[in-house]
Amino acid sequence: MRVIIEPDYEKLSQWAADYVVNKINAAKPTAEKPFVLGLPTGSSPIGMYKALVKANKEGRVSFKHVLTFNMDEYVNLPEEHPESYHSFMATNLFNHIDCPNLFNHIDCPKENIHILNGNAEDLEAECAHYEQMIVEAGGIDLFIGGIGPDGHIAFNEPGSSLTSRTRQKTLTTDTRVANSRFFGGNPDNVPAHALTVGVGTVMSAKEVLILCNGHNKARALQAAVEGPVTQMWTISALQMHQHGIIVCDEAACEEIKHGTYKYFKDIEKESI
Ligand code: GLP
Repeated sequence: MRVIIEPDYEKLSQWAADYVVNKINAAKPTAEKPFVLGLPTGSSPIGMYKALVKANKEGRVSFKHVLTFNMDEYVNLPEEHPESYHSFMATNLFNHIDCPNLFNHIDCPKENIHILNGNAEDLEAECAHYEQMIVEAGGIDLFIGGIGPDGHIAFNEPGSSLTSRTRQKTLTTDTRVANSRFFGGNPDNVPAHALTVGVGTVMSAKEVLILCNGHNKARALQAAVEGPVTQMWTISALQMHQHGIIVCDEAACEEIKHGTYKYFKDIEKESI
């Protein structure tokens, strides 16, 4: 696992965006062989999305031949709700890039974008179909994710199987409290269920890049990097991935040992 420590959120976001841009460009994607990108929501990736939009506007990257698969979506929340992950992706990325416009899809086929439908009649079939579409796309080349303060990845709450695939999950009280900031501060307004890719789905990607910023993620980062692999910190499964990267800021490093911090800094210095 690589751990990239950046001084602050802005630099972390720029690092992540540059990484994505370089990966897409290196793959030279075409309609026949698109680049397959897994995408997160939450506050952590907002800076990266801004930097990606800027790169797109400057002509440094195109999303025309990029297929996207989002991590998760709330159950029973209308797509048009401002806090649905459909709305989040439209607002933060898709409405600003030359490729798809989520709701009008003017420039590029809407079928490039995949987001779980939390209002599907048959949620189980929806999840199975999602996994199937990932397989048909040739698997995810790069899955980007955030971490919840309790170490969850996507909506794989503590206790989720580390080999899980896309399915419905009940959100923990912790997560509903954490996400209540987007729902008027009341945890009861946060949907109780979500559809989410599994830990196994994320770990099947060829590469995984996790963004982790801020003091409230310090315990999760410590568990991810120094703790054992455990279903109680689902992000710890990244330790088993051959190409896992965490990019974090200084504030998130407060709980890791000084020696761990120094070691990862040394490794990156050598790779420059
Ligand atoms: C939600 C999402 C996760 C995300 C987490 C952290 O629970 N399902 O994918 O990583 O929030 O959110 P934030 O980045 O806002 O801290």
